[in-house]
Amino acid sequence: MDSQFFRVSGVSKSFDGLVALDGVGFEAGKGQTVGVIGPNGSGKTTLFNIISGLLAADGGSVVFDGTEIMGWKPHRVVHRGIARTFQSARLFNNLTILQNCELPQFTGSTSTLFHSLAFDRGEREERERVRERANALLSEIGGGRLYPRRHDYPDTCSLGEQRMLELIRVLSVEPEIVLMDEPTQGMNPVWVGETLDLIEQQIAARGKTMIFIEHKMSVVMRIAERVVVLNHGRKIAEGSPASVRDDPAVIEAYLGT
Ligand SMILES: Nc1ncnc2c1ncn2[C@@H]1O[C@H](COP(=O)(O)OP(=O)(O)O)[C@@H](O)[C@H]1O
Ligand SMILES: [Mg+2]
Repeated sequence: MDSQFFRVSGVSKSFDGLVALDGVGFEAGKGQTVGVIGPNGSGKTTLFNIISGLLAADGGSVVFDGTEIMGWKPHRVVHRGIARTFQSARLFNNLTILQNCELPQFTGSTSTLFHSLAFDRGEREERERVRERANALLSEIGGGRLYPRRHDYPDTCSLGEQRMLELIRVLSVEPEIVLMDEPTQGMNPVWVGETLDLIEQQIAARGKTMIFIEHKMSVVMRIAERVVVLNHGRKIAEGSPASVRDDPAVIEAYLGT
């Protein structure tokens, strides 16, 4: 494994004296799928918020492909190649499904989108490329079910479809690393299966590195190659899904809550 590809080390974060993360580190090799598990409140989302630049850590380091990215602004992290989904889908409800898949592709701020809606020819060409990529992903992923509805708004989608749209959005920026925060949360078993197929066939198959937070052990067992276990902000275990599942410290952490 190329452990230099993505490495988090010694990440700590407190909120008003509450220690959410205490010296957490892990690695992901290129193309690897790493699961992050742990009881509620163990610091998983906080870890993702720090990696994606939404939250400043108190200390530690996040190195991606030889570059220290700790402390970077979120959009810079995205354009460097790390994109994420959220525990509850975060979509722009005042933009159409199609525009939701276009927006993240524009560099910089939202104003770029509106600027590029205007006149400049280079920007018009960029805009066409962006639209093409958004349309291609919408017609390809999830059996293309969102494509005919691309001019509708996200609030017309079911919860499962919204999370699918979020994954399409993430893929539209062609990231090297995809972070997913509980991608199957709140879904019925049919949607869980569909989402896992999408993750395996559309994200893993594209050679993306995936780091995902998950509660369901069955999901972890199916898609993770390696698992990192957090409890009270500390890493208590790491290894293959089977070794982690059978680890007494992990069983204790889960039963103890
Ligand atoms: N923005 C915040 N302000 C204050 N406390 C927070 C904030 N974000 C998370 N926490 C606290 O940090 C701990 C870890 O939270 P979180 O990372 O969301 O856990 P998990 O995703 O593993 O359920 C929890 O005790 C939570 O209440
Ligand atoms: Mg969480």
